[in-house]
Amino acid sequence: MQAFYSQSALYSAFFEPSEEIRGSIDRLVRRHLRRAPRRVLDPACGPGLWLEHFQRAGAEVAGCDLEERAIALAAKRLPKRGSKVLVGDMRRPPDELGTDFDCAINLDNSVGHLADYMDVAEHLASIRRRLSPRGVYLLGLALREDGDTIDAGVVFERGPVDVAGGGFAALRTESLGLQPTTRCERIRQIAITANVPDTPAVIAEQYDLLTFTFAMLRDVLAAAGGFEVLGCHDATDESLPEKAFRKSAGDVVLVLRAGAVRARAARGSAKKRPASRRR
Ligand SMILES: C[S@@+](CC[C@H](N)C(=O)[O-])C[C@H]1O[C@@H](n2cnc3c(N)ncnc32)[C@H](O)[C@@H]1O
Repeated sequence: MQAFYSQSALYSAFFEPSEEIRGSIDRLVRRHLRRAPRRVLDPACGPGLWLEHFQRAGAEVAGCDLEERAIALAAKRLPKRGSKVLVGDMRRPPDELGTDFDCAINLDNSVGHLADYMDVAEHLASIRRRLSPRGVYLLGLALREDGDTIDAGVVFERGPVDVAGGGFAALRTESLGLQPTTRCERIRQIAITANVPDTPAVIAEQYDLLTFTFAMLRDVLAAAGGFEVLGCHDATDESLPEKAFRKSAGDVVLVLRAGAVRARAARGSAKKRPASRRR
């Protein structure tokens, strides 16, 4: 697991959702539910930034994450009434989190951290079981075909920023491009901190994130029991504009609902993404 994710105060300092992305997500959810969500699940919730957003709007929230420190911070951040956060794996979120969620959210290609497509199918099947019949899953992932490329370069750079609890830090994340055999995107990241309690001065790490061909995505959606793709949005722009659901669409947020797989490719040419809002 990535060392950076265990530094939850640091994660929060860099990735607190902006007002713009909060507004975009709220609009998406309301469009498909026709109301604000009542029960929200984040199966890789980190320190609970999105859960906090939905809880403030009146929803009951639940989440899990592999990182104990992230869950400890989420538990501190979220008022106990109406929230449940536990250490757990997104492949099979703990049963105690409950079911009947009308919204699940998992952005920023967190699902790309899973080891393989079997894990992704297991994850999607778990979420499907936990959603209410009209419930939606907002899932961030990367659509890349064999032969696609990603230019190597900086995808996120921020800081120095103040860190809650003391100290300050800067973060730089680079993409090293798609690995030809695995088609994973290789990410390299360096965080530098000063006077942040219980935190190393430098965290430097490299990891690979799964990407999906269109055919693979169809297969995992079907293997999970079936999801309809209600919407596809450009994840590199915080206004989350609609994007053609097609091969090589890049970093997207999909809106899924349990149902027969209806994931036809839309026509249109691939838009090259700006490298701004990728983690
Ligand atoms: C990019 S962060 C997203 C956190 C949160 N959902 C948000 O939007 O702020 C990815 C998170 O996935 C978690 N993670 C990675 N693999 C996981 C797994 N198998 N099960 C649960 N959480 C996992 C990491 O610990 C990290 O907190």
